Amino acid sequence: MRISVIGCGYLGAVHASAMAELGHEVVGIDVDERKIAQLGQAQPPFFEPGLPEILASGVASGRLRFSTDIADAADAEVHFLAVGTPQQAGRPTADLRFVDAAFEALLPHLADDALIVGKSTVPVGTAARLAGRLAEAAAHARLAWNPEFLREGYAVKDTLEPDRFVYGVESADAASTLDDVYRRAIDAGTPRIVTDFATAELVKVAANAFLATKISFINAMSEIADATGADVTALADALGHDARIGRRFLNAGVGFGGGCLPKDIRAFAARADELGVGASVAFLKEVDEINLRQRQRVVDLAVATLGGSVFRKRIAVLGVTFKPESDDVRDSPALDVAVHLKGLGADVIATDPAGVENARGRHPQLTYTTSLDEALAGADLVVLVTEWRQYRALDPAAVAVQVAAPRIIDGRNVLDPVAWRAAGWEYHGLGRP
Ligand code: UDX
Repeated sequence: MRISVIGCGYLGAVHASAMAELGHEVVGIDVDERKIAQLGQAQPPFFEPGLPEILASGVASGRLRFSTDIADAADAEVHFLAVGTPQQAGRPTADLRFVDAAFEALLPHLADDALIVGKSTVPVGTAARLAGRLAEAAAHARLAWNPEFLREGYAVKDTLEPDRFVYGVESADAASTLDDVYRRAIDAGTPRIVTDFATAELVKVAANAFLATKISFINAMSEIADATGADVTALADALGHDARIGRRFLNAGVGFGGGCLPKDIRAFAARADELGVGASVAFLKEVDEINLRQRQRVVDLAVATLGGSVFRKRIAVLGVTFKPESDDVRDSPALDVAVHLKGLGADVIATDPAGVENARGRHPQLTYTTSLDEALAGADLVVLVTEWRQYRALDPAAVAVQVAAPRIIDGRNVLDPVAWRAAGWEYHGLGRP
């Protein structure tokens, strides 16, 4: 099939490459000339495992090309809208400027029975509004809403082998066009839910709200654990054996961040307010507050561990990305902690295997190094805030000789307290005795 993907950020660049991997003829469109030039030379503009390979093979095969000119999308049968929907500055609501601009720009180039497929996360009601506009401007074209559930770090796998497909459609033929796009996964038995626009839009935000709630729930339990001497990791293990609950997304720590969960729960709560049903999801405000409190807890723990002040203390911050296997620092709890500690006068040195460049762009006031050894050297305190594999594998005895004082805050509860204490460390987790 001939496919266009409009917007080549995390979502769109992966989606375009994955569609070419499935054998489709794909053009990726973006207004960012630099990004398009990079992608056209098969260079991923961000870190994502597996993307370099499928991008390179797509470009080499000639099935995958990139352009800044939306007219190059004109002969596509299916157009995916994969532009960002960031949080509006100073407000909790989603900024739909990029969705609206991409949609309007596409309208003059639509073939008669083209299918536009929204993938961006949008406030419920957006698809119906765009369908109304499409009926006025290009009556023979169709619209579907097909939310994307990919996780950064696993984006290629999640796109090619998702847990499920959700199609928000107004006609059966739009669903069958999407089946043709995703033929390989459909034939392999991937479940698909065919529904209306509003439900499809809601599935995405409801899934993210549920995941965020699960994380904040266990973080709330970690506060109770700290007050009682209980161990939140053992609690999570025990809860997780109940199949109705499940162990995943029950890791207490510095909390969730990234380009999706925080802004999506805020936009969802704001949209519910607009619809007059804000009380139904008022708990999401609490979920957000619990989450932000975790960052403060780590900072407070650092202050307490250093005897009441971090001023002029050398603190090695391990991790700046919002999660491992990503270079994304958007709303990163790790970076937030580093910035707060610096604000309190600490001599912070932050390190990360992939995120230093992006972090420096956002917070140039911090000192960064890509060398873990350099970060650890002479530290009065180590704060682990992103659970990269290499940090989880640290040997406490070896690190003890690098630092000035063996004190560590495990902001992701991923180290073994027994082993670290046995090697002479003062160890603090969150909700761990
Ligand atoms: C999320 C959703 O998982 C995905 O389905 C959606 O499409 C986009 O948003 P992503 O932002 O890539 O994906 O990250 P995810 O793996 O969900 O992690 C989000 C945050 O939660 C990270 O900061 C992570 O460190 C944190 N987290 C996750 C926890 O603090 N504890 C957990 O147990 C799990």
